Amino acid sequence: MQTSEWLRHCGLARVDGLALLRDVAGLSHAALLAHPETPLAAETLQRLETRAERLRAGEPLAYVLGWREFFGLRFAVSPAVLVPRPETELLVDFALDRIAPERGAAVLDLGTGSGAIAVAVAHARPHAAVWAVDASAEALAEAARNAQALLPADRAGGAPRLFLGDWYAALPADAPRFDLILSNPPYVAQADPHLEALAHEPRLALVGSRASADGLADIRRIVAEAPAHLAPGGWLAIEHGYDQAEAVRALLRDAGLAEARSLPDLAGIARVTAGCLRA
Ligand SMILES: C[S@@+](CC[C@H](N)C(=O)[O-])C[C@H]1O[C@@H](n2cnc3c(N)ncnc32)[C@H](O)[C@@H]1O
Repeated sequence: MQTSEWLRHCGLARVDGLALLRDVAGLSHAALLAHPETPLAAETLQRLETRAERLRAGEPLAYVLGWREFFGLRFAVSPAVLVPRPETELLVDFALDRIAPERGAAVLDLGTGSGAIAVAVAHARPHAAVWAVDASAEALAEAARNAQALLPADRAGGAPRLFLGDWYAALPADAPRFDLILSNPPYVAQADPHLEALAHEPRLALVGSRASADGLADIRRIVAEAPAHLAPGGWLAIEHGYDQAEAVRALLRDAGLAEARSLPDLAGIARVTAGCLRA
């Protein structure tokens, strides 16, 4: 069978079919477009079909491929971790704007999942000391694999330090006060109808262990305890739902954090809110 014929009959959106062909058949996008007559070997066809079946059953493309690009890096992802989203790159941009390239800042990523935020910051700011926490051992193992694959072994700030546990309680006694605390925590309300479409991703990543009617239970904890872990002048930046910005700004103010502000994503929707501990 030729690639164009497979694409026509695979029963997938063209963009997903092309992604499978690129990954499984090892063909470039340009080659697929220029040579639609390229024949597919029987063994390739079988591997394509296995993956196409998983996509047709609703599994996210990133789990089927086993990777997702985030901040220009290719992260390994499994169903144990949330698939990194483009809007989360806003948090990384926010962090990089506050760390000069040669500076040795202390950065904490709460709820690291695949390690997307922690590893992207560590990659772009080699001198930063990066700490990361997750309540899922499987997620931390994935983050460790990504850190090892994507960061140089002789990185100036060392390898990211990973801790298993419940938010700040996971940190060891010698943890520093952080210049930046970044988090994309669970923030989906327990009865949110969107959960059905997200059924393949871990519930701990979406709703958390403290399911709440407004989705803010974990954000409340992270914000309330932030002042005890921030260095003077340090920033807390949190990703949240499209309708939670005002509530998160209020939580930051209640916690005594200053300069509370929300940042829009590419669609103009406030998806990250930040505040700082006065110096
Ligand atoms: C929305 S996912 C974010 C993953 C990753 N940072 C990203 O942006 O792609 C939230 C993460 O928080 C973790 N988590 C949930 N509750 C937690 C808790 N109480 N303490 C630490 N991590 C927690 C989940 O296991 C999950 O990996």
